[in-house]
Amino acid sequence: KKHQIGVIGLAVMGKNLALNIAEHGFRVAVYNRSTGKTNEILEEAQNKEYEGNLSAYYSLEEFTEDLETPRKIILMVKAGDAVDDMINQLLPFLSKGDLIMDGGNSYYMDTIRRNKVLKELGYHFLGTGISGGEEGARKGPAIMPGGAIDAYQMMEPILTAISAKVDNEPCSTYIGEDGAGHFVKMVHNGIEYADMQLIGEAYDIMKKILHLTPQELHEVFDEWNQGELNSYLIDITADIFAKKDIASDHYLVDMILDVGGQKGTGKWTSQIALDLGAPIPTITNAVYERYLSAKKDERIKASQKLKGPESIVTKQKDFIEAIRRALYASKICAYAQGFGLLHTASEQYGWKLRFADIAKIFRGGCIIRAQFLNRISDAYNENPELENLLLAEYFSDIINWYQTEWREVIKAAISAGIAIPAFSSALAYYDSYRSKELPMNLLQAQRDYFGAHTYQRIDKEGIYHTQW
Ligand code: 6PG
Repeated sequence: KKHQIGVIGLAVMGKNLALNIAEHGFRVAVYNRSTGKTNEILEEAQNKEYEGNLSAYYSLEEFTEDLETPRKIILMVKAGDAVDDMINQLLPFLSKGDLIMDGGNSYYMDTIRRNKVLKELGYHFLGTGISGGEEGARKGPAIMPGGAIDAYQMMEPILTAISAKVDNEPCSTYIGEDGAGHFVKMVHNGIEYADMQLIGEAYDIMKKILHLTPQELHEVFDEWNQGELNSYLIDITADIFAKKDIASDHYLVDMILDVGGQKGTGKWTSQIALDLGAPIPTITNAVYERYLSAKKDERIKASQKLKGPESIVTKQKDFIEAIRRALYASKICAYAQGFGLLHTASEQYGWKLRFADIAKIFRGGCIIRAQFLNRISDAYNENPELENLLLAEYFSDIINWYQTEWREVIKAAISAGIAIPAFSSALAYYDSYRSKELPMNLLQAQRDYFGAHTYQRIDKEGIYHTQW
C-alpha cells in the first residue's frame, strides 16, 4: 500500500513530526540526505504500535514512487538554500498536482517566491509555520499553513490530526495566501523574543534588588504560573530555577554563560516591522539585547569603568506582586505590538488574517502558548476590526489597574542600574500610544526649518512652510 504522506529531512523537528504523523495512523514515507538520521528514526519507531506506518527510503526516486498521488511531501530541511535545492531535486520525480509543504522557519518572502514559481509549474505549495520545538513536533505543535486554500485542504486532515489540541480544538488553522503562514510564525517568534526578554528582566530585578535565590525564584515563577501569567514560558522558567548542576553543585542557571544566541527570526520580525512602518519596540529591544549580551568581553571591561548608581536597595512591600503586574502589563504591550504588526502586514499583503483564530491556535503547542491568548482571541472575536489590543476592555482595564506598580518597578530597576529595555520600551509604547499629544510638532518644525519639509497645522487644512 502506498504512503499517504512523505517527510524529507529527519533532523529533530522532521523526525518528530514524522513519528507524530505515523502515530496518528497515517502511512508515512521518510527520506533524509544522510542515512544516519534515517536509521535513527527507524530505531525509534521499532516495536512501537505505529512502526508499520513508517517506511524509510534511501533514494528520492523510490520515495516519490511509493507515495499516493497526488503526492504530499513535507520538507523539514534547514531554511534557506536547502529548501530550494530539495525542491529542485524533487521536481523531476513529481507530477502536476502534487503538493510540497515547507514546514521549516522559512523567510516569508522566499515562501511567496516559491509559491508563485511552483504554482506556475502546476504544483501545490504550502509554506507552513510549525511551532513547539522538539516536544511540540512529537506530541502536537501549533501549525500555521499558508498558501492556496485548495493546497491547504489537501493537507488539512493530517495537519489537524497531528496538531496540539486545546479544549478539543486543533491548534492548526488556515492562515492565508502565499507567505502568510510563515509570516505569522515569524511574528510568533518575535513575540517569543519579547516574552523571554521580559521574563529575564523580571528575574534580574528579583535577583539584583531582592536577592532571591534560584530556589526562591522557582517558587515565585511557580506561583505566577497559577495566575494570569500562566504560560509555557513561565512554567519552564520555574523548572529551570529548580535545576541543580551535578558537576558544580550550583544551580545550573547560575553556571550558564549570559550570552544570548539567535537564529534570526526575531531579527526578521524587526526588519520587516521597520519596512512596514509598524512599531514593535519591545520585540526589537529584545533582539538588540541579545546582540548587546554577545559583547561579553566588552561588558566585563565596561563594568570596571562605567559606574552604576550607588546601591540604594529599597525593599518595597509587595514588590514581587508589583513585578508580576509589571510583567503582565509589559507582556500585553508586547503582544499588542506583535498583533499590530500582523494587522499592518495583513493589509499590506491582502492576507485577511483572522486574528481571533491566530490567537486561538497559539494557545497550545507553540512556545508562546499562554492562558491569556484566550483573552486576545475573545477581544478579536468581539471586534475583528480592533486596531490595537490595548483598546480591548479586558486589556485596558488590566493596564489601567496595574500601571502604578508597573511604573514603580521600572523606577526601582532604573534607580538600581538594572537594564530593562523590554519593560521600559513596553511602557514607552503604552505612554506614546495613549498620548493625545506627542512632541512631533517640534520635530515637524525642525524638519521644516532645516529642510523645508513642510508641516500641517492644527487649526486649518493645508501644507505649510515657514521662513524660520
Ligand atoms: C518554535 C520556536 C523555534 C525555535 C526558535 C528559537 O516556535 O518552536 O520558536 O522556532 O526554537 O527558532 O529561536 P532563536 O534560536 O532565534 O532563539
